Amino acid sequence: MTAPDRLFTGHGRLLTPDPYDGPRPWAIAVRDGRVAWVGAAGDAPAIAGAIDLGDALVTPGLVDAHTHPVYAGDRADEAAARLAGARYDGGGILRTVAATRAADDDELEALVEARLRAQMAAGTTTVECKSGYGLSTTEELRALRIIGRVAERLPVRVVRTFLGAHAIPPDAPDYVRLLVEEAIPAVAAEGLADFCDVFCDAGFFSLADAEAILAAAAEHGLGLRLHAEQLARTGAAELAVRLGATSADHLEQLDEAGVGALAESATVATLLPGPALVMRDRLPPARALLDAGATVALASDANAGTFGAWGAMPLVIGLGATLLGMTVSEAMRAATVGGAAALGLAGRRGVIGPDADADLVAWDAQHEGAFALAPGAVRAARVFVGGEEVA
Ligand code: NIG
Ligand code: FE
Repeated sequence: MTAPDRLFTGHGRLLTPDPYDGPRPWAIAVRDGRVAWVGAAGDAPAIAGAIDLGDALVTPGLVDAHTHPVYAGDRADEAAARLAGARYDGGGILRTVAATRAADDDELEALVEARLRAQMAAGTTTVECKSGYGLSTTEELRALRIIGRVAERLPVRVVRTFLGAHAIPPDAPDYVRLLVEEAIPAVAAEGLADFCDVFCDAGFFSLADAEAILAAAAEHGLGLRLHAEQLARTGAAELAVRLGATSADHLEQLDEAGVGALAESATVATLLPGPALVMRDRLPPARALLDAGATVALASDANAGTFGAWGAMPLVIGLGATLLGMTVSEAMRAATVGGAAALGLAGRRGVIGPDADADLVAWDAQHEGAFALAPGAVRAARVFVGGEEVA
């Protein structure tokens, strides 16, 4: 082994996310920000200043593969009204669009930064960030640039997604065409996003719209993902599979056929228990997806209108293991390796193993069961990105 430049040791539970079952204390050797080796501390090269994580539960940094951080305004009144029986429609998104367009860059940057800091402090080291509350070429590009600027000054690792197709703005009747002919080429030309997403659902973008938008995105070299089967069973999951999307997200209304389609594909099923809870919605069929062999990710979907909690990944793991019927270790995998797969980063993130980025969390807990025993209350004691302490 080439000499590591950093060494972590501990004698508590280590999830890579597979449980480490070798001799204790264990050690993780890091070189140039990446994991070089994991094994018994007795076999590790001695280096000065090893970081001892004691008896803490240690896991890979969490990967939150679905968030919408660029927004201003407040829709808590809408959440209250919805729980009193009001319907969820596009009106809420457009309300956020108005508030976001009215906010200046500094204001939005401060909001995004606070949200990403909360994510990091709660153990999320890679976070996908969508635009989608601008709904014009200028405003969507502005949102993606803001995400980029915040990402540059924070150690958290950010993946950007263009979600111009979040709702149809009343001021752009031919919006799908505008996305295809103007917005997507502009996003790609400036290198502002890694992925393109579409809210393909009843009352939002149709299957045909989504296909046209994603085809243009693919032509411009963007990866594909889809908000699918949240409000109605539309066939969006099968569309995601057919287009080779990296991830299909939500899936509350997915049926057996949809489960089968995802299980036979490389498209990750990204489940979002937060909004399902807040919307008192049907729960996505996590158990059926896992039993059928689908790759499952858990993500927060933190956003302006259906789940407003930033830094909620520990809660999301808890909800996966309680509400969604996953085992705790399945939920932990879904929030690490699953999230990484949902971002096309398998092997690089969400795992503590050779060549992976040395992103890890020491929890204020000794066993992963704590996430189910104390949903939302498990704190990240120490957070490392590329081997450097960040929170
Ligand atoms: O993922 N489903 C669509 N978009 C968001 C909600 C957006 C909003 O209501 O502001 C979601 O749940
Ligand atoms: Fe979403």
